[in-house]
Amino acid sequence: MAELPAEPLKRDVQNHILFECAWEVVNKVGGIYTVIKTKVPVTVAEYGDRYTLIGPLMYKTAPMEVEAQEPTDPALSATLDNMRTQGIKCLYGRWLIEGAPRVLLFDIGSAFHRLDEWKADLWTLAGIPSPPHDTETNDTIIFGYLIAWFLGEYITQQLHTAVVAHFHEWQAGVAIPLCRKRHIDVTTVFTTHATLLGRYLCAGNVDFYNNLQYFDVDHEAGKRGIYHRYCIERASTHCSDVFTTVSDITAYESEHLLKRKPDGIVPNGLNVVKFQAMHEFQNLHATAKAKIHEFIRGHFYGYYDFDLDNTLYMFTAGRYEYRNKGVDMFIESLARLNYRLQKSGSKTTVVAFIIMPAATNSYTVDALKGQAVMKQLKDTVTEIQNRIGARLFEHAARYHGEGKMELQPDELMSAEDHILLKRRIFALRRTTYPPIVTHNMVDDANDPILNQLRRVKLFNAPTDRVKVIFHPDFLNSNNPILGLDYEEFVRGCHLGVFPSYYEPWGYTPAECTVMGVPSVTTNLSGFGCFMQDLIERPEDEGCYIVDRRMQSVEESANDLTNFMFTFTNKTRRQRINQRNRVERLSPLLDWKNLGIEYSKSRQLALRRAYPDAFLNANGEVDDEDSDWFGASMQRFMPSAPASPRLRMSGMATPGDMGTLTEEMQQLNTSDYRGYNWPRSSEEEEDGYPFPLV
Ligand code: UDP
Ligand code: G6P
Ligand code: GLC
Repeated sequence: MAELPAEPLKRDVQNHILFECAWEVVNKVGGIYTVIKTKVPVTVAEYGDRYTLIGPLMYKTAPMEVEAQEPTDPALSATLDNMRTQGIKCLYGRWLIEGAPRVLLFDIGSAFHRLDEWKADLWTLAGIPSPPHDTETNDTIIFGYLIAWFLGEYITQQLHTAVVAHFHEWQAGVAIPLCRKRHIDVTTVFTTHATLLGRYLCAGNVDFYNNLQYFDVDHEAGKRGIYHRYCIERASTHCSDVFTTVSDITAYESEHLLKRKPDGIVPNGLNVVKFQAMHEFQNLHATAKAKIHEFIRGHFYGYYDFDLDNTLYMFTAGRYEYRNKGVDMFIESLARLNYRLQKSGSKTTVVAFIIMPAATNSYTVDALKGQAVMKQLKDTVTEIQNRIGARLFEHAARYHGEGKMELQPDELMSAEDHILLKRRIFALRRTTYPPIVTHNMVDDANDPILNQLRRVKLFNAPTDRVKVIFHPDFLNSNNPILGLDYEEFVRGCHLGVFPSYYEPWGYTPAECTVMGVPSVTTNLSGFGCFMQDLIERPEDEGCYIVDRRMQSVEESANDLTNFMFTFTNKTRRQRINQRNRVERLSPLLDWKNLGIEYSKSRQLALRRAYPDAFLNANGEVDDEDSDWFGASMQRFMPSAPASPRLRMSGMATPGDMGTLTEEMQQLNTSDYRGYNWPRSSEEEEDGYPFPLV
């Protein structure tokens, strides 16, 4: 008699295990690192030790950030042992951040000898080519193969529990087609935080959003030398069980450039720290601002002729993407603002910072000197002050009613003190204006930011009401100048300006919001659209949104100038009020509310991979049974009376803003939130978006 087929494996779906993979796990590059790191507390709250992050092992940073441990899960132990015996090095332990999640970091170099074999396999298996000298792609391939190896091995060691593998961005995506082709019994989620083509096309001079549906994607990718990367991104998109992205605008873009409509949106959150009292974060602003003042005194030595009490700090920050991050528009608008402030006879000074890392050869001598001479002056004044104090004390102690009770100024300060002070004051003389950049640039002559500053003639002249400081490096409290952490710096500023043209989400304005700092963003940024969608009059809440979609660049630049000019006319009281209003928006951006979208995406992935697990006794889909997912999530209810005015009354739960449902697949493009993006039927075929070269 033939043997009955064995029961198919039934994995426990409710207590599933989660692996979240990204190139930016314990590896800070940009916003994805912020997503991963800030989301940890809510994910750990939901999964506990069933959650492990997977990333690349960077020997420079990992040993400081990760506490090595032995895995307690025997299946994990066995898997890693197997891989180790085949020469793969990895670090397993706890990432020392809030939530202390488990992390597994693979040493890419330890598998380098397999690169050619894996490249050939990727070609045979998925038809993805890989040119020899693209280091980033080579790393991506090794990383992907290591993850797929790990998952394949783990799933054979551990037969009882379902596994969700969540991947962020194409750099972690290679494992997805591998999981599918090798029939590895995991369910996969792919979240893209941008599209490669979108980033490249926007950085060029293309009317991107009006032409999205027309691009010949293969041709465009090939022309830019990124066809192989695009293939990885597209394979990740199409082979994943669930595909998500961070905003509606990027969902629309993904549909056209990656040819799959996302299953839903997972907006980016932050780990919001609630203060007991409002004035606490206001005090933080005042202390941080005092530190920026100190830097400014040094930087502008010799030309420090403006009143710091009437000075406003504006800034932009992020990866150096000149056009995508809207630095071009920021500088143009600063020049216009300068003119308007001069014309109106304003006494206010604006100092605009541009914090964007570029290739440099350390600080300029001038920038270092500024801080040094100011410090010397300060030390000298303190010394003289002490000596005056000592003289005054001595005189008062010995005063017995005869002669003058007070000392005359020349008796208080000795001739030596006078000379010393004069020497310090003379040291503050300089023949050049305060520099517009703090570092020696590797390519000063061709730097787009410097060239535009030169073009609009913002040179920190005494007559300029707008001063500029380009700091081509991320901030760090150990820096010899502007020695503040980024967060502290943001708190000390008055306005963040992020006029992005291409910005799938844009953490920088979101971070401003939760720190109670007003910001300007655009309706081409995921964050801007999100806020516009939720709040009735965002600008009243200190969340200014420049329209970069429905008007010309000229009009957008004027709008930005107007926002900044209006801001300079606010009184201190108005600024304090506005900071309070901005800070009240924080719950909208809290992972405690937004994390639920991630839970939904994982649930959808499980439903797709294990539909039987969701049937009730009658064999019907059991929709009631949802308390195991997202149960720990707290819902956000706006305080009554609702202020700020949210667009959606009463029930507004930002966690529901996303659209992660099966039905989304049936919706039209025009159902994306935000602007009415062109629908296929409305599209006019008027040729290719720009001349083909
Ligand atoms: N950032 C930083 N130090 C700086 C400037 C920026 O750590 O000096 C961080 C910032 O906090 C934010 C991230 O860089 O979390 C940038 O993320 P965003 O989403 O704005 O842009 P991306 O670089 O991902 O395109
Ligand atoms: C905070 C502090 C106040 C300070 C103010 C300055 O609110 O609590 O003490 O006066 O900041 O605001 P400003 O916008 O002028 O930097
Ligand atoms: C990407 C995007 C950025 C987004 C970040 C996190 O790097 O450029 O806009 O905030 O990912 O999703």
